[in-house]
Amino acid sequence: MTYQNYSLKQLQQIDAAHHLHPFTDHKELREAGSRIITRANGPFIYDSEGVELLDGMAGLWCVNIGYGREELAEAAYAQMKELPYYNSFFKCSTPTPVLLSKKLAEIAPKNVNQVFYGSSGSEANDTALRLVRHYWVIEGKPEKNRVISRKMAYHGSTIAGTSLGGMDAMHKQLNGAVPNIVHVMMPYAYELALPGESDHDFGLRAAKSVEDAILEAGADKVAAFIGEPVMGAGGVKIPPASYWPEVQRICRKYDVLLMLDEVITGYGRTGEWFAAQTFGIEPDTITTAKALTSGYQPLSALLVGDRITSTLVEKGGEFNHGYTYSGHPVACAVALKNLEIIEQEGLVDRVRNETGPYFAKALQERIAGHDLVGEVRSIGLMGAIEIVKDKATKERFLPSGSAAVTVRDHAIANGMMLRATGDTMILSPPLIWTRDTIDMACERIRKALDLAQADLRKR
Ligand SMILES: Cc1ncc(COP(=O)(O)O)c(C=O)c1O
Repeated sequence: MTYQNYSLKQLQQIDAAHHLHPFTDHKELREAGSRIITRANGPFIYDSEGVELLDGMAGLWCVNIGYGREELAEAAYAQMKELPYYNSFFKCSTPTPVLLSKKLAEIAPKNVNQVFYGSSGSEANDTALRLVRHYWVIEGKPEKNRVISRKMAYHGSTIAGTSLGGMDAMHKQLNGAVPNIVHVMMPYAYELALPGESDHDFGLRAAKSVEDAILEAGADKVAAFIGEPVMGAGGVKIPPASYWPEVQRICRKYDVLLMLDEVITGYGRTGEWFAAQTFGIEPDTITTAKALTSGYQPLSALLVGDRITSTLVEKGGEFNHGYTYSGHPVACAVALKNLEIIEQEGLVDRVRNETGPYFAKALQERIAGHDLVGEVRSIGLMGAIEIVKDKATKERFLPSGSAAVTVRDHAIANGMMLRATGDTMILSPPLIWTRDTIDMACERIRKALDLAQADLRKR
């Protein structure tokens, strides 16, 4: 029996009875009922009632080549027929992870040449944490085990991912985080820059908080700093240009490894293959997932820099870590085809030279002037809209986060899927968006802002 034999109501009832959703208040969901998405094509998703939505979030920051790509389905089908699974333990390998690793080494920053696979971004960050701590152990410095991260960072939802992340609500539910992880300020100028402080100076001050944390712990105790090049789930917080080069300088000065979490920014989103290239830095690890397969298969790749791999190979012995699905042949076949499509269609260059700048201009010209909007910002095809009560003072509506949810709900009702995080609307569309799609999105967002403003005035 296929799902078409069920009514929406029936699917919602079964969903409520048996399916625990991620990041969900289950009581609330049971009362509201899920929206059931049944198909998708290009930049659009469709629900069970045939409603079409322009997907401003590329699924969950992942469907970079858009929906309905038969080549990916064919790559998976062919690989499943030939070899659906074999592991990469016990001195075995299969061809697709071998070829994918070569491709990833070609497109990664030049100091990064090896890959460790998993199935999700969270898993890849667990691997990254284990790897950097293990690195210092085999370097003879086991006490160098602390990791510095940032408040509001999102590094996944496993225990290590949550501990690395800086989300208070998640930490409260951990009831005991992985020890020796500290969180410093985020590079979020809109709320944290001092009056009159330039973007450049703010970026340096935010980077200085990393140095302060290193000095407080003692450099001989600090293994690494981890950060998303652009904080995603925390609200598309784009650091000033001065921030990352300064963080890198500080890490090098104190011999602290630099870990980038590019689960969102990897594979073209900022107009380069990796945001490390956008910001001109050479990290020791780069966590990637999501757009590696454009979400068509679960796959993560931790890209590992030469400094760590040469120690691991020369001095390491066995690294007692791995997953059943490390280097899954079908997921890797899909990733290879996905990267080929990104390359053939010039999507990364298009984001850098055409759609990214057009997106930035459209947000500035058509959204920034709205009374509810305190700031718009974007980098490549990743953007944020700050919702405020008062543009001049940056005062927010109360309760916190409610105004953005009002905007989001109007956007969805008007054919535009986007996300609200705190008081910030976030956008991360498929890289196949054109000028026309950007125009369509701005029109729908503008309408949602008008409708939300009318609602918020009545409060
Ligand atoms: C920056 C970042 N790191 C890690 C993750 C976790 O990835 P996953 O949900 O695949 O475990 C996410 C997910 O959104 C993310 O945005």
